[in-house]
Amino acid sequence: MNDNIMIRLGTEAEKQELLNTHPHVKNVIHDNGYFIIAKIEDTVVGYLWAFKRDIPAPVEQSEIFINIIEVIYTNLRCQGVASAMVKKIIEIAEREKAYQVRAYCDIGNEPSHRLWLKNKFSISPVKMPNGSIPGSFVSYVI
Ligand SMILES: CC(C)(COP(=O)(O)OP(=O)(O)OC[C@H]1O[C@@H](n2cnc3c(N)ncnc32)[C@H](O)[C@@H]1OP(=O)(O)O)[C@@H](O)C(=O)NCCC(=O)NCCS
Repeated sequence: MNDNIMIRLGTEAEKQELLNTHPHVKNVIHDNGYFIIAKIEDTVVGYLWAFKRDIPAPVEQSEIFINIIEVIYTNLRCQGVASAMVKKIIEIAEREKAYQVRAYCDIGNEPSHRLWLKNKFSISPVKMPNGSIPGSFVSYVI
């Protein structure tokens, strides 16, 4: 990955700035949670927002669910930026003793499926009652 790209937890001000410049992310980034950014100098070029929730019995532990991950600038994709943000959320999940990190991925999203496979997530197709498969849950057990 480009040495100029810094991966770290974003501040509340950086979150607000992203919400202002990319209003569509309001549907997928909420209060609190884990906000990770990829930044080059003053520009946020990628972000991940995830939240923690409980998993019921028999696990009865927590999981960290990634609601959104995006590398905003398409010329910066395929260089490991998203993988670096995934590694960061896995580190956090390990520190917080979560059971797993999970996400949902649309069926036609090949770059995203490749991202999860590359980072050793397992992929489980989601089958709807009418038999259609709109996407996959992907999970990485800590
Ligand atoms: C999915 C996404 C976050 C990946 O970001 P990224 O920084 O390119 O990810 P990485 O470079 O870490 O890894 C992506 C892998 O997918 C591969 N890939 C990327 N685009 C691809 C494509 N169009 N077809 C096939 N493979 C592709 C890359 O080559 C890479 O694998 P490799 O290193 O083994 O070659 C980025 O494409 C994106 O922002 N997409 C739009 C938002 C989105 O779909 N988010 C996911 C929601 S679940």
